[in-house]
Amino acid sequence: MAKRKLIFDVDTGSDDALALMSALLSENEFEVLGVCTVSGNRDVDNTTENTLRVIELLHKEHIPVIKGASRPLIAKLDYTRHINQQLETVDENGEIISYHAEYLPLPAAKIKPLEKVHAASWYIQTLLNSEEKITLVLTGPLTNFALAYRTAPEILDHIAEIVIMGGGKNQTNSTSASEFNIFFDPEAAFITLSVGSKVPLTMMMLDATHQAYLTYEDAARLRKLNNAIGEFAAVETESRIKAYNLLQPLGKKDIAPIHDALCVMYLLDPTVITKKEFLHVDVVCGGIANGQTLIDNRRASQAIKNVHVCYSTDSDKFREMLVSILEKSNYLH
Ligand code: BDR
Ligand code: CA
Repeated sequence: MAKRKLIFDVDTGSDDALALMSALLSENEFEVLGVCTVSGNRDVDNTTENTLRVIELLHKEHIPVIKGASRPLIAKLDYTRHINQQLETVDENGEIISYHAEYLPLPAAKIKPLEKVHAASWYIQTLLNSEEKITLVLTGPLTNFALAYRTAPEILDHIAEIVIMGGGKNQTNSTSASEFNIFFDPEAAFITLSVGSKVPLTMMMLDATHQAYLTYEDAARLRKLNNAIGEFAAVETESRIKAYNLLQPLGKKDIAPIHDALCVMYLLDPTVITKKEFLHVDVVCGGIANGQTLIDNRRASQAIKNVHVCYSTDSDKFREMLVSILEKSNYLH
């Protein structure tokens, strides 16, 4: 079967890193054309450097990294839109615990991002020049894609499908109404979701990604690989477990959602998602529910459907898939 061509857009980010690694290790299934970066978990300079580190870890230096937006389209102009979530704490040993370190614990990158091109322009050039349709995997705030689409809406003709980590129905994190990627740039999310009536657009909601987790047992299995990739994946898993236990306890203890990796697992095997509906989804821009994904599940709704909404995950399948893909690092070309 022909390999699926992918473009990633990331704010690396511990879970973005694992998502990207899993795609790069799925060499028979995917060809990654490039990785765009955006501000989100950290500033774009950090998310770019972190992405370059991951590319080097996987020895995929031929894949371009393209730096993108340093700020959301509008959100930071509006000082009333405050995050309402603790992102860092200190554990009993005085160690700083956070979801995403400023820099991933990997050697500083020797490679650089592409010169003199912004991610939004790169999207436009790459998509318009491609005869084959390309799948977009967007695991950070949606600023780059929104800029590209507003500039050149004809890029849609070159997109096979868009898979996004973002939003939530009954689960939120940044505020009581919103999930981080959408909260960070709600206008960009609004623009991006509007294309879902024209190209297939699937969203991994927090409801699904909170069930897409790894455990300490998985980390131990990764460490046993005895290579740099396994060690890094184990360290990130353990540090995310600590962060979730201390900052955002979920229904279960000692688990680390690897939100962004669910996009990749879904592309490899859609049955990892156990509940999905095609519905109309809006994004609230501004006000008390800033960044909320409003899912119209009225049976008689006349609203145009734009999002394949994923709500729930087969956790065991996700764990087994992700860990066994990372185990392929022993045979990396
Ligand atoms: C999303 O926000 C980020 O912190 C993660 O990388 C993920 O993309 C989860 O809400
Ligand atoms: Ca992310």
